[in-house]
Amino acid sequence: MIYPIVVYGDPVLKKKARDIKKGEVDVRQLSEDMFETMHGASGVGLAAPQIGMSIRMFVVDASPMEDEELMDFRKVFINPVMLDEEGEPWPYEEGCLSIPHIREEITRKPDIRIRYFDENWEEHEESYDGIRARIIQHEYDHIEGILFTDYLSPFKKRMLKGKLQNISKGKTRVDYRIAVPLRK
Ligand code: NI
Repeated sequence: MIYPIVVYGDPVLKKKARDIKKGEVDVRQLSEDMFETMHGASGVGLAAPQIGMSIRMFVVDASPMEDEELMDFRKVFINPVMLDEEGEPWPYEEGCLSIPHIREEITRKPDIRIRYFDENWEEHEESYDGIRARIIQHEYDHIEGILFTDYLSPFKKRMLKGKLQNISKGKTRVDYRIAVPLRK
């Protein structure tokens, strides 16, 4: 099932999501639906708040980036805990399915360590770097209620204000189904 993607301006994107209790949600089904939704929108990551669910879960699949090294990076993260982020911060241009047509350079630390459950409720503790870490950090932010635009300078934010308002009003053309906060 493909969900509409919640866009900028919806309060669910600014809310810290809560942990999922085992058995409360069919996480296998939900992860399949999230992959389907994400692929339908050509994204490489999707967090539950982006389909209107304020729970701690996200999926990543970097295969659309067509980078051989990232081909097998397809994972489900449930109740993740970021244990460590370190190294010299580096800039990378990020985008977000909830903020269509806006891409900005965001600076983050390159090396992370994260603990999470997969869709079979098996626990993992793993380290990532580079683009993999970057995708995870962006999605992890979503379940913390943080958007990449939150990191921009006040000047940049003012520059983007009109564009962001248009997204919230549904005045942006997107080739996937969205849920627009101010159209309700
Ligand atoms: Ni995003």
